[in-house]
Amino acid sequence: MGDVARRALMSVAASAATLFCDSFVRIFWCRPSANASIHKRVLAVWLVVGSWFIGSTQAEPLIGDERVHRQPLVHETVAAMPFADIVAYGGHLFSAKFTILDGAGRPGATQSEIPTKRLSGELPAFFRTSGPEANACDGCHNQPSVGGAGEFVANVFVSDGVDDADFDSLDPQFSNERGTPAIHGAGLVELLAREMTRDLQALRDDGAERSRRTGRPVTVALVSKGVSFGHITLHPSGYADVNGIDGVDHDLVIRPFSQKGVFSSLRQFTINALNAHHGMQARERFGVTWTGTADFDRDGIADEIRSGDVTALVLFQAALPFPVQRFSENATLKAAAEDGAQLFTEAACDTCHRHALPLEAPVFVEPNPLNTAGNLRSTDGATPVKVALDTAGLKRNDEGHWLIPLFSDLKRHRIADDARPYFANELLGQRFVGRDVFLTPRLWGAGTTAPYGHRGDLTTLREAILHHGGDANTSREKFEALTELQQAKVIEFLKSLQIPSGGAS
Ligand code: HEC
Ligand code: HEC
Repeated sequence: MGDVARRALMSVAASAATLFCDSFVRIFWCRPSANASIHKRVLAVWLVVGSWFIGSTQAEPLIGDERVHRQPLVHETVAAMPFADIVAYGGHLFSAKFTILDGAGRPGATQSEIPTKRLSGELPAFFRTSGPEANACDGCHNQPSVGGAGEFVANVFVSDGVDDADFDSLDPQFSNERGTPAIHGAGLVELLAREMTRDLQALRDDGAERSRRTGRPVTVALVSKGVSFGHITLHPSGYADVNGIDGVDHDLVIRPFSQKGVFSSLRQFTINALNAHHGMQARERFGVTWTGTADFDRDGIADEIRSGDVTALVLFQAALPFPVQRFSENATLKAAAEDGAQLFTEAACDTCHRHALPLEAPVFVEPNPLNTAGNLRSTDGATPVKVALDTAGLKRNDEGHWLIPLFSDLKRHRIADDARPYFANELLGQRFVGRDVFLTPRLWGAGTTAPYGHRGDLTTLREAILHHGGDANTSREKFEALTELQQAKVIEFLKSLQIPSGGAS
């Protein structure tokens, strides 16, 4: 990390030098001559050398320094770093056990995504239900490796996003308890979601245009990557009948993150997580632009997380290797897993847990062009960082699209009913998504992400399958109709879907 920090500091110095030179030239060479650019360059060289000197003295270790996040970086600085350094820096932040000297803790703020003052007075620095409840991201996301899933002890009490932004209760009955999913492959997942959003919104916009042109209502089937999200009817007046939309919000933005499927980008989630779990507040959400103060959480540390820190955390997560199928070396178990894959399809599990969704372009661009205010946006002038994600081992379809074997349709489904109420346990609706509705979880790491279910309270895959109700009834009945050996083969297949051990690719 020492190297990464030093290199980052050098980039800062270089940008500062250029900026300084620009102003210097503007002030002292009122009419820039041909010489001006030479002078500028000479000045820049001296400033870089000078700041290297200052930088190298600053890089000297400070005895007894208990900060783990010494130098918050802006997006432009991180954008200028080599990709491997960005990932290393993001990995450092993902595993950093933030201290009060970095700004950990939020005595004056709640876990809410919308900057919200804590109303109920001071609290201990850590609190299991309301948070902050952890020291590092990988305090929870760590199985089988950093970025992975968490066991029951790493559960979170989610009250963020519940309709009342003032919400600040410590009582667990006022929050939804969730288990920790794995983040591996999330870069590819976010890209799939972006393309699906683009497709669905284009279908809607095209329908609206046709309706205006013909003067008649137009009903459009909302299908992207073979997944149907119902239909929408557009009227010539501009009115849109959204009653037929299914499994996605009415704005047709696919939100692939959180088990409820209510967050659209790693960036949005990361800023929430930093605040909720650690009390580390990102300037782009909690800073002076939106709250009028650089220390919204009143812990005495200003601008704890800068835009470049978030960018690095996002790119670290986006680059985590995607899960793969790993067969047992035992020939009987391998053959069983192969049969199980077939039976998984026969039992119609893949109507929701799609084997693969086709991705047109595996190039991750940060920030996400669909980001909303409170998350860095390209319209804020941020230079996009473009990274080709690792596709080694992925198959391609006839159109050349990459087949991402995530075993999900990135759609929300009703998964419980009166006969099978297990997954309808939550008391609070989140963002107006039904309490019995959840996003189809990606099963591509299922063999390594126990325990199961959105609360992480099921110790076996079999229990998770047998609790499927609602829209999954037909499929679950097909599973139940299989022989015991066939059911065991489905389990063996799911066990073969694994997160590779080791860090970011
Ligand atoms: C105390 C445990 C805990 C800590 C610490 C934690 N997470 Fe999580 N994380 C969770 C849980 C639980 C969920 C699922 C939330 C839900 O479904 O509503 C989650 C979900 C996520 C997701 C969405 C994954 C998906 O596919 O839905 C991302 C991304 C994420 N966390 C990133 C982070 C980052 C970055 C940090 C550190 C800044 C962090 N998490 C710290 C427990 C934790
Ligand atoms: C109608 C869509 C749908 C169908 C069909 C479906 N599932 Fe699911 N599955 C879901 C949803 C939604 C969840 C999330 C449940 C929860 O935790 O709230 C889920 C959860 C799971 C889990 C737990 C994953 C985890 O990480 O916790 C497994 C395993 C699973 N399904 C396997 C299957 C199998 C096997 C079949 C076929 C017999 C199947 N599913 C059919 C939608 C579906």
